[in-house]
Parts: sequence; C-alpha cells; structure tokens
Amino acid sequence: MVGTAHFAEQTVKARINGITLSFNDQGTGLPIIFLHAFPLNRTLWAEQEEALSSQFRVITIDLRGHGESDAPLWHYTLDQAADDVRGLLDHLSLQQAVFVGLSMGGYLLFAFYRKYAERVKGMVLADTRPQADSEEGKQARFEMAQVAYKQGGSAVADIMIPKLLSPATIQTKPDLVRRVRMMIEGNQVSGIAGDLMAMAERPDSIPLLKQMTCPAQIIVGELDLPTPPSDAKLMADQIPGAHLAIIPGAAHLSNLEQPGLFNEAVRSFVGNVMS
Ligand code: MLT
Repeated sequence: MVGTAHFAEQTVKARINGITLSFNDQGTGLPIIFLHAFPLNRTLWAEQEEALSSQFRVITIDLRGHGESDAPLWHYTLDQAADDVRGLLDHLSLQQAVFVGLSMGGYLLFAFYRKYAERVKGMVLADTRPQADSEEGKQARFEMAQVAYKQGGSAVADIMIPKLLSPATIQTKPDLVRRVRMMIEGNQVSGIAGDLMAMAERPDSIPLLKQMTCPAQIIVGELDLPTPPSDAKLMADQIPGAHLAIIPGAAHLSNLEQPGLFNEAVRSFVGNVMS
C-alpha cells in the first residue's frame, strides 16, 4: 500500500471552472489521464502510477467532489466533469492524451468523447458500461444519496465494498479493503450525492459506440457484478476495432485486484497507440 505522505508530496492543484482540482502528474512521455470510479479518489491508481510512470506521463485526477478536490454543494453532471477534465488539459497545455476511465470514469469518458473527441488519442474503458440507468437503478441512486446524507460515507462504504471487490479479496486482503473504505469515507457527502445525481441523469451511450473512431481497449474483471463481462463484450463488439481483455480473479476494481494484468493491458494498448 502506498502511504498518504507519498501522495501529499506529489499533489498538484489547479483552479478549473471555479473550483480547485487536485491531481498527480508523474513521469514524461505520452500523457495518460486516469479517471477513477465512484465514490473513490485518485489513489485508486497508485499501482498504475507506480508501474507506468517510468514510461509515460501519468496524470491521476481527483474528480470534482472527491479526495482533495473541492466538493461544492450543488448540481453535478458528467458533462460538467468532462469540462473539468478539458480545463485541466488546457491548464497543462496538453492537446491530446490517452484516457483510462474505470466505471464512473468510463461514463465520464463517454461524456468527454461526445464533447471533445479531438482531444482523445485513445481510450481504455475499464469495468464500465454504455447503458443509461434503468428507472430502478435511478431509484437506487436516490436511496444511496439518502444513506449518504443521513448516515455518512461509512454507511456508503458498507454498501459499496461488496460491489467493488470480490468475496476472495474481502476475505483475504484486509489492507486493500481498508484502503477502499478510506477512499470512500474521505469524500464529502456533497460529492457522493452529486455523483449519484450525475450518474442517474447520464444518457444512453450505446448509439455513440459505433461512431467512435479513436483506438479503444476494453478491460473487465471476470467477476465484475455491477458492470459484467457481457457489458464489456457489447462495447468491444460495437466500438470499431476495440480490443477486449478479461481479467481473471478480479471483480469491479480490476486495477486494484489484479494490478499486474491490468497494467500490462494498458501498457500494450498505449504501445500500439504510439506505433
Ligand atoms: C463505479 O464503480 O463507478 C460505480 O459502481 C458505477 C455505478 O454505480 O454505476
């Protein structure tokens, strides 16, 4: 596990769209921007940062509402999150980057691609899905927002951890479970509720898939329940030229549960994008 002090040293802050965003920026070369899942923060990517920053410029962002970024009490949307990422690219004078989005980070990538396709050199869609929420799914978001409001982040962690990690990880890797819990509990309720609203309102991205022209890699944990391999196969079938990697022994947070396999899939994809 990577210590918090390690992160604090590297934290960079920028004023984007009226709020402060925190991010890490490590390494040189082709920029890869990592977008985390709900309701976590940029330390989700510690293993990717460590493994890939010797070869690439690795930028991990605390999205609005998460970690050390501001979590204003207001209405959140994935388009707004896309504008934040665009603002950060401009701030760093980056015309293009490869993007890796996991779960909600993938929903954000669909929004980003709709608005700013020309900034995307390639994208990795990990443990995510293109469909909008069902009515039942939206209701579940509303209920989780009430849990966050009334009982706080720790009650949200109780609900989320069994969705994010496999039963084997929960039983045998207490440090990793604690790390995920700390990420969730470290977020403000305004950010958690904001994400839930944003995800509930996101549009169906299935019609976008066939129109995507950037190189794309799909990754999914074979045990992923919230965004199962069938969703990954749908994206791989519909995005022209997309490749699919199914990670054995991993559930929803495949980058944490099998970092070696995840990193290899990203490294080989980015290598192909560059050649
Ligand atoms: C995530 O991991 O970002 C969430 O599980 C996505 C979702 O709730 O749809």
